[in-house]
Amino acid sequence: MPERRAHLAVDPAFALGAVDRRLFGTFIEHMGRGVYTGIYEPDHPTATADGFRGDVLELVRESGATVARYPGGNFVSAYRWEDGVGPPADRRRRIDLAWRSIETNEFGLNEFAQWARAAEVEPMLAVNLGTRGILEACDLVEYANVGRGTAQSDLRISHGVKDPHEVRLWCLGNEMDGPWQIGHRTAEEYGRLAAETAKAMRRVDPAIELVACGSSNSRMPTFASWEATVLDHTHDVVDYISLHAYYEQRGDDVASFLASGVDMDRFIESVVATADHVSAKHRSRKQINLAFDEWNVWYEQDFPGRADETLRQAPRLIEDTFNVTDAVVVGGLLVSLLRHADRVKVACQAQLANVIGLIRTEPDGAAWRQTIFHPFAVTARLAHGVALRAELTGPRHETIQFGEVDSVSAAATWDAERGVLAVFAVNRHPDEAVTLDIPLAAFPSATSATVLTLHDDDLRAVNTASDPDRVVPRAHTAEIADGGLTVVLPRASWHAISITAERRAS
Ligand code: AHR
Repeated sequence: MPERRAHLAVDPAFALGAVDRRLFGTFIEHMGRGVYTGIYEPDHPTATADGFRGDVLELVRESGATVARYPGGNFVSAYRWEDGVGPPADRRRRIDLAWRSIETNEFGLNEFAQWARAAEVEPMLAVNLGTRGILEACDLVEYANVGRGTAQSDLRISHGVKDPHEVRLWCLGNEMDGPWQIGHRTAEEYGRLAAETAKAMRRVDPAIELVACGSSNSRMPTFASWEATVLDHTHDVVDYISLHAYYEQRGDDVASFLASGVDMDRFIESVVATADHVSAKHRSRKQINLAFDEWNVWYEQDFPGRADETLRQAPRLIEDTFNVTDAVVVGGLLVSLLRHADRVKVACQAQLANVIGLIRTEPDGAAWRQTIFHPFAVTARLAHGVALRAELTGPRHETIQFGEVDSVSAAATWDAERGVLAVFAVNRHPDEAVTLDIPLAAFPSATSATVLTLHDDDLRAVNTASDPDRVVPRAHTAEIADGGLTVVLPRASWHAISITAERRAS
């Protein structure tokens, strides 16, 4: 069989755009054990004075997550934010309508803001536009962001929180196009409500940035027309349109699953085209950017749904255990986000703990990194500076879902300050290796590279409480010869290559 060879052209002269640090966001929903026994467990041996799990906080800092979206998700659409503030003894137990669970409200806005500070992440809040409206959203912004001297800010101070949280990023509801959403709306209904809410929220705090809900996924029957209508109404008052996508392997079709990034690419490019169409229609030079504020692998086919569940507190919901293939797919999805860094300015891997989480925990027990933690953490650590226009040529192969796809997908970033060129590459072929050549004429001082590889002969290998490091990236160095670097990418593998270099003198 002829050698399968790919070629990646990278040059700092051809930059796509700055890599926004907010691309490495995460998501914490009041769902299952995302909050309770996930990030918050006052009786845990590692608990901080505030009741946060110290072992999880350490892993979050290690993950390099920059933003945390909260409190939902579907949860937000029946949530009264007021239930989660004030003296703990007065907080009410409610039925969470999204996941049919008991919500104790022991953890709410102020606890989240405090946790975010401890975790060193920027808070991103969602307001309820399913069952509540303009005034409740304004009250929340006032409570969170106004210094003092108004009803809501003084209420916050009376709750023992003197300084405002200064939350910049706000989602105008969640997945409002989905029939499962409590308070589901048509695009017209939601577009009008989102525009009026945005206008009012900005009057409370003009410094906020707003995200309008896009489609719940690109398979929704209203996809694209939803975005066009919603942006028609909200164009002048929002900054971002959201995207959500979850991927899973169907049957034994590993090839399509490994190529999930193809779908993410198409999704992003369609939303960019739609947003730009609306800007053109409005004769506006304003650019609406993208907030991919939920993305991950999720075995939705295994999720029986939320109805008929016995009401329980913090039940084990969608605690998927991720394997090697899932980690390679997540690495590929990060490549896709970086390849669109000119327009995707916020992204949240969903979710952080237990619920399809980067991190798994046991109550009163251990916390460990799932396989997917690794590509996320490595990419967040290495992808700084600008994303480059990385041009790839190489072999292609057939998939059931996407037809013919590039076997290798890659992105590159250049951090001029630190002199680091980072290349992220995934071999999406389920059976065959590909040799990747990266000419480095534009980086003449580069001599060696460190390659971190996530690959395993057993694509189903997972990390568990008893074997938490069964799947980890392996590091090796690679010499640069004849002005370039050659790396062999085994079948179904993900790689992060960091090259210390100076830029060619121009
Ligand atoms: O992340 C789990 C759920 O997926 C979220 O609540 C919802 O927004 C999406 O459908």
